[in-house]
Amino acid sequence: MVFTYMTKDGIISNFCGIKSDFYLNDPFEDSDLFSSDPILEEWLNGSQKQNITTIRKKLENILPLYNLEKSFWENLENGPRQLTEKEEEILKRLELLVDPQKTNFLGKKINSKIGLAAGPAPNSEWLKFYSELGFDFLISKTVRLYQHDGHDIPNIMYVDKNSNGEFEETSNFRGTITNYFGIPSNEPEIWINDFKKFTKQLPKDKVFVMSGVSTPIENTREEIINQFRELVKISKEDVKADGFEADLSCPNLKSNEGSLYEDTNLLKDIILGMREEIEDEYPISIKIGLSNNYEKIIEEVGQYINILNLLNAPPSNVKVDNRTIKCGICGRELYKISFPILEKINELRNNGDYNFEIIGAGGIGPSTIEYLLKEDLDIFYSMATEAMFSPFSAKLCKMIINKYN
Ligand SMILES: Cc1cc2nc3c(=O)[nH]c(=O)nc-3n(C[C@H](O)[C@H](O)[C@H](O)COP(=O)(O)O)c2cc1C
Repeated sequence: MVFTYMTKDGIISNFCGIKSDFYLNDPFEDSDLFSSDPILEEWLNGSQKQNITTIRKKLENILPLYNLEKSFWENLENGPRQLTEKEEEILKRLELLVDPQKTNFLGKKINSKIGLAAGPAPNSEWLKFYSELGFDFLISKTVRLYQHDGHDIPNIMYVDKNSNGEFEETSNFRGTITNYFGIPSNEPEIWINDFKKFTKQLPKDKVFVMSGVSTPIENTREEIINQFRELVKISKEDVKADGFEADLSCPNLKSNEGSLYEDTNLLKDIILGMREEIEDEYPISIKIGLSNNYEKIIEEVGQYINILNLLNAPPSNVKVDNRTIKCGICGRELYKISFPILEKINELRNNGDYNFEIIGAGGIGPSTIEYLLKEDLDIFYSMATEAMFSPFSAKLCKMIINKYN
């Protein structure tokens, strides 16, 4: 057993203000490494190990694929940054080292269990980019039925824990970031046409899942259910995505769209509403967050879903200058709670009479995935933060998976 379960109210309360029974003793606490860097450096330099200061320096200079200084809308419009020649060359060399591991997923045969989590890809250009970087299933950034501006920049800040265990903004990237977007969205006509463009040219061995969320107008239960019905219908009939993901757990919204999964009656009604709308087995995924209620959630809805996707970014207070902002925490720091939760969910699913797949998210990347592989969980793996910072994340994770097959 790699994971130890401890009740650590203090730590988890500090982590995100929500009590949880899950906490992983940090196997990396002393190493302080992130991402592909150590592995990549080792690979590029034969067996020569880099010293830790060099690696940290490299990390601080990492150039994200998403422009953190520009708004979500400018990023959407301009697409990812151009890869450098060196990066292109490394990607080509990595490709030669990866063996496909054919896997059935949502009726298709894909090349690995590695995918892109909802977030980094808001439109077809970004989706295509990540598909080419080796992600074999792709989940769109969440869209809405109504145009929504979302929050102003900064949306993504580098964060680290201070000596009191609180998150605060830092100037250097250490693997953990905020997600403070508030789910901006174009109006449906725009994203429907754009996603259609993507599904038309989607290779047969890649899966595309469209993510959507309801937008409170009246904010009644009926309205929430009806909006999810409409979204799943669009995903199936207009966009022709391979599946639909209901985002029920966005961490930085003022209304209740972010915690719909905690109300298991409403959750069930949303899912049954979607099932009734599409009248067949069209794949439905639900994206949920931190909870102490996983048994109940699975008991209530496990039989109606095709995918359970977790962990969405837990909401946490972050100190920025003299202010405190509630943001979703994403990236490296998250694996400490997401990994034991994934192990628990895997156990609950396997011990029950359920057929749903599990997509794991939360601090997954080349330097952490091995801990999940050692546990031999039957899950798919997704990345958001790693994918936004390293063009090599998918291919490196695949290389590591190869070692276990
Ligand atoms: C910049 C950013 C934007 C995100 N946007 C969404 C979103 O629109 N919908 C969603 O369900 N999750 C969203 N997420 C959450 C991720 O899908 C994922 O659950 C979480 O970040 C944990 O994975 P990570 O540690 O690999 O980042 C976003 C994450 C990031 C970093």
